[in-house]
Amino acid sequence: PEVPKPVEKLLGFAPVAKSLLDSVIVPVGYTASAIYALGDPLTASTAAYRNDGTDTDYENRAGDHHDGMEWFGLSADGKASLTSVERGLLGVNHEATTNEKQASFFLHANGGTSSLPRPASEVDKETAIHGVSFVEVRKANGKWEYVKDSSFNRRFTCLTEMELSGPVRGNALAITKYSATGQKTRGTLNNCGTGKTPWNSFVTGEENWAGYFTRNATDDTARVGEKSIVALKRYGSSQGLPSRHGWETGGTEDKYVRWNISKTGSSTNGSDDYRNEMNGMGYIVEMDAYDKTKLAKKRTALGRFAHESAAFGKPVAGKPLAVYMGDDSRNEYIYKYVSTANWDAADANSTNPLATGDKYLDSGKLYVAQFNADGSGKWIELSLSNAQIAAYANYKFADQADICVNSRLAGDAVGATKMDRPEWCSVNPANGEIYYSLTNNSNRNVNATGSSQLVPDSANPRAYTDMKGTTAQNGNPNGHILRMKEGTDGSAALTFTWDVYLFAAEASADAGKINLSSLTNDQDMSSPDGLAFSPATGICWIQTDDGAFTDVTNCMMLAGLPGQVGDGEKVTLNYTKTDGTPLAVTTYVGKKPTADTLKRFLVGPVGCELTGIAETPDGKALFVNIQHPGETTAAANIADPTKYTSQWPANTGYGLGKRPRSATIVITKNDGGRIGS
Ligand code: FEO
Ligand code: CA
Ligand code: CA
Ligand code: CA
Repeated sequence: PEVPKPVEKLLGFAPVAKSLLDSVIVPVGYTASAIYALGDPLTASTAAYRNDGTDTDYENRAGDHHDGMEWFGLSADGKASLTSVERGLLGVNHEATTNEKQASFFLHANGGTSSLPRPASEVDKETAIHGVSFVEVRKANGKWEYVKDSSFNRRFTCLTEMELSGPVRGNALAITKYSATGQKTRGTLNNCGTGKTPWNSFVTGEENWAGYFTRNATDDTARVGEKSIVALKRYGSSQGLPSRHGWETGGTEDKYVRWNISKTGSSTNGSDDYRNEMNGMGYIVEMDAYDKTKLAKKRTALGRFAHESAAFGKPVAGKPLAVYMGDDSRNEYIYKYVSTANWDAADANSTNPLATGDKYLDSGKLYVAQFNADGSGKWIELSLSNAQIAAYANYKFADQADICVNSRLAGDAVGATKMDRPEWCSVNPANGEIYYSLTNNSNRNVNATGSSQLVPDSANPRAYTDMKGTTAQNGNPNGHILRMKEGTDGSAALTFTWDVYLFAAEASADAGKINLSSLTNDQDMSSPDGLAFSPATGICWIQTDDGAFTDVTNCMMLAGLPGQVGDGEKVTLNYTKTDGTPLAVTTYVGKKPTADTLKRFLVGPVGCELTGIAETPDGKALFVNIQHPGETTAAANIADPTKYTSQWPANTGYGLGKRPRSATIVITKNDGGRIGS
């Protein structure tokens, strides 16, 4: 008779202590290794990365600031596979770069030129390290490695041609000198969270793209009387400033000029300048992981904002698909897209995923969330059939494309709830509930009287300046994780219930005001950001991107086994405004975690953010991204490696040079078990 296997205990590992070391710490019995870092070559003929600022050819290398990531299996004979556990592709976002003033200083020999104009050679490197990479990884002789010469390796940069798809395709708002028909645009930018469609394609969210564009000091005048000024300002485009990196100053070629979106042409529709160029960024973009001949498609029906992840609700045959999304800026919104087409399970095996994407992601309804103080909420449709949108005085929407391009204005029109920076969302495979990281919000203020500051509300209830909660009452520096349960219509529901799974906090903080989830020293965290449920184990992985707790610990990853909406208690927070007026805010705190349901699993090197997570279908290899280690280095210290705040992963023996590099790590369990057991 077979000997029964011992029952695996999830979260059976010993928790990792907080750490300020320049290394990746994982529990006893686990191994973590860097396998794919900034600059690593993606073709056989690309030179090894010297990592001293002299490297070129970044279109054929790993990009910078690894962020969201998804796994796409490959069979032994190189075909798409949903079951392979030893060979696959990773789709990896390359969000941004480590910069001070304009220059990405670790990319350039002398730290780069931060004054204007920026040299073309530096701009060309910087545009190439943004975007997305697809890279083959495999387990060979028991060890994971990336495959330098794989024919699947592919880069998308912020200059790669892409299709606009859905309502905005061909619309007046998409017409540019590059695409007079408004059907195409170039590049994907500031790619942050990711998602995987039920038909096995990759989706990436474009987040802080607005800052990469600029406008002349007179552009408001050139646009006077146009509603475009309202839209530009709502998305953070002010006139007369250099863009984040000053790429518009790289030269007279189109690839530089397009970053200046001033109205300079004489056409009435924008076909002779780049006045509409920024309308080509800010979407969920779908990519075929396996077929390099396919252009990426920007799925404009899902709205335009500072996108993070896109989480698909569990598909149900004969029902529409739901996609959950957040807009990560202070006081922005939570969104849901619901497809017109009902799910056909045969599409899970699509051999042409982007055609399947056309079916589900180009036609549907876009909703924004409103949270009520009684623990309920509703999804409000963003369309001209909604009277509040049709009658909105601040901005006159022309059509659904206009609503998609200007989702934030549409959310304003319907009174959506302004949130504490919605980062990643993920759907709990056990019960379909939707989890959102609300990372932090410096604009939450007990004394707010309007404008950019907001008083706390039930879904965003905390406002304390520091992690102790002792003094002033502005800011939510630690963030929380909200969760929602759809009403009886499931993916198409117009109502939901909600509570707060966890309030991030320091263990020593006041349990009545700040540490509302009673986190212990093995659980305390700040600024949850990356969030993903493991399909294999059901573990909820929580990753942090913190500015408030880094005096105590580097950023981290925790493993949770959550319950469900409504399993905790109602709590009232009693504030007193500086003028003596009381302010009572009720909220709903999920069941407090125990030592068996929440544990710190990993702490990263100095200056990093933990983000991105992907795993093999057996749950035995977990890929995680270490973003911008050493970001806290002063650019002036570029010549002196001893003054870098991090030398990871070089200090583990990975690669050449001492400059810190964003990288993908793989985590395995030494006994061959599943990650998190
Ligand atoms: Fe790219 Fe909101 O994190
Ligand atoms: Ca993020
Ligand atoms: Ca963040
Ligand atoms: Ca970051």
